[in-house]
Amino acid sequence: MEYTTVTDTVAAGRELDDLAPVYEAVFAEPPYLEGPRDVAEFLERYQREHKTPGFRLVLARDGGELAGFTYGLSLASTTGWWSGFLDTDLPEDFTLEDGRRTFVVMELAVLADRRGQGVGRALHAALLDGVAAERVTLTVLPEAPAAAWYERMGYQLVGLTQPWPGAPVYRSMIKPLQP
Ligand SMILES: CC(C)(COP(=O)(O)OP(=O)(O)OC[C@H]1O[C@@H](n2cnc3c(N)ncnc32)[C@H](O)[C@@H]1OP(=O)(O)O)[C@@H](O)C(=O)NCCC(=O)NCCS
Repeated sequence: MEYTTVTDTVAAGRELDDLAPVYEAVFAEPPYLEGPRDVAEFLERYQREHKTPGFRLVLARDGGELAGFTYGLSLASTTGWWSGFLDTDLPEDFTLEDGRRTFVVMELAVLADRRGQGVGRALHAALLDGVAAERVTLTVLPEAPAAAWYERMGYQLVGLTQPWPGAPVYRSMIKPLQP
């Protein structure tokens, strides 16, 4: 398996055609059950996100075939990331962002027939390799097997969050990064 990290905006934009079918296949599975509308939203989101500060994409390729990918970015100082918590009041010194403090894992996906071989772990490690942030965060559906996977990767629960009214309830997780 070959792992490639992409931080250049133009190069990251070019990868979208390869990412889309992997995203579509992985998130069609339960509990996500995503369809064409969700894939279209992913495409639209990626087109914005790959231009934001701190963006990093890591691809896992085997003989040219994409087996998985992950990407993330830095939380902006104006972020609403720490709003919408249902079960906890987060102190201001925890939620304060300056554009560099926190890195977010936005997506992580490994094709079903490539799982259990260390690809997810290697993607995740490559994504964070060289990130200068103090901590890394993400949200995951509590019912997804990935929730336990992230715990295994050292993440701890912050609380339950609903990003907007009517949105699913996510588990918000965090992990300190070594300076
Ligand atoms: C989560 C995901 C990326 C993991 O990828 P993977 O390549 O199977 O993971 P790895 O093989 O690197 O697993 C690493 C470790 O986690 C363990 N593990 C695997 N699945 C696990 C699970 N559901 N719960 C807990 N641990 C798990 C493995 O046994 C392995 O342990 P080890 O390194 O100590 O031997 C993959 O399952 C996936 O794409 N899931 C669907 C998409 C998804 O839910 N993404 C997250 C959205 S927020």
